[in-house]
Amino acid sequence: MKPFEIMKGVYWVGAIDHDVRNFHGYSYTVHHGTTYNAYLVVGKKVALVDAVYGPFAEEMFDRISRIVDLQKIDYMISNHTETDHSGAVPEVLKRVPNATLVCTARAIDALKKHYRDGWKIQTVKTGDEINLGGKTLRFYEAPMLHWPESMFTYYVEEQLLMPNDAFGQHYASEERYADEVDQYVLWKEAEKYYANILWPLSRQVQRKIEEVLELKLPIKIIAPSHGLIWRKDPLQIATRYLQWAKGERTTNKVVITWDTMWQSTTKLARAIAEGVKDEGLTPLLRLIPHSDRSDTMAELLEAKGILVGSSTLHNEILPTVAPILSDLEVLKPEGKKCAAFGSYGWSGGAVKKIQEAMERGKMQVIMEPFTVKWVPTKEELDKAYEWGREFAKKVK
Ligand code: FEO
Repeated sequence: MKPFEIMKGVYWVGAIDHDVRNFHGYSYTVHHGTTYNAYLVVGKKVALVDAVYGPFAEEMFDRISRIVDLQKIDYMISNHTETDHSGAVPEVLKRVPNATLVCTARAIDALKKHYRDGWKIQTVKTGDEINLGGKTLRFYEAPMLHWPESMFTYYVEEQLLMPNDAFGQHYASEERYADEVDQYVLWKEAEKYYANILWPLSRQVQRKIEEVLELKLPIKIIAPSHGLIWRKDPLQIATRYLQWAKGERTTNKVVITWDTMWQSTTKLARAIAEGVKDEGLTPLLRLIPHSDRSDTMAELLEAKGILVGSSTLHNEILPTVAPILSDLEVLKPEGKKCAAFGSYGWSGGAVKKIQEAMERGKMQVIMEPFTVKWVPTKEELDKAYEWGREFAKKVK
């Protein structure tokens, strides 16, 4: 396994995982696999910036050993303790016991709890530097980007930012640079990554990026720990994060997602979609059992709003609708405009549950729910159409 030289004395020594399809358990699908990026900075001293997920440790060691003897590693820098980046850290420190583990103070507890104690540790905070002999690594704490202990490592002389999870994408490729791959897939994966990982942390994202921009830190390359490296106009991804964090980037789409017992709610969804379309917006119809939940959340990131529908079953939503409501509560698309619709037989209840979940997700419920009993009549479908039109008028 060969390393890849990003710039003189800096090598990508990570791993490419073409097979993974789920991340964070089964909470997030990764259709294009991922990479676990680790970077070796070789000066008079040598630093390994992040490691890889444990099962890929040998791949990383093989790449490193083609550059330097493992024993030459002086610093194991851990920007983030989540196991996809720290999994191979214990093995690095076992093979190179004299190496110093560098991390934020908050990372120590997580590393000890994940692995063990007894390493040589140097804690760092914003502004601290390590001199590798002509190569300076400076650290910036980045709490909640996306864990409390997260930090960025910046190689001062070459203006290389290694921000760990921030600015990543789950995209396995033999290419290393963002400008070398399919741009549609790249940006879709970056969008999905933001929506499913960083969306609830948008305020912290905004604060940190504005802080970095205020520092006027010159940045030639952004090398995240997943996916491709940004070398052409690298700040474009930071600008996009800022737009997502502020909710400033919207398309003319409205997500309509639902499940149905006997097609009544589907009939409503279609009538509502026609109303949305006739107001000049694009409805994205996502029948829940046929849709990927994390893709739907990614589509919602830039959509003008979302309508969620369900039949009522035992006074409740259909069980299939629960995961998307959980996403809305957890990912908190704050301020996103929304409303609920659905059908019922003996008693209602589903739309109330949907609306409550939306409110817990800090979303903006802008319409009373639309409901019908049993099968919608032609007149009720006309009303559903008008309800869709009204929603579209309000979000345009
Ligand atoms: Fe890629 Fe938060 O780990």
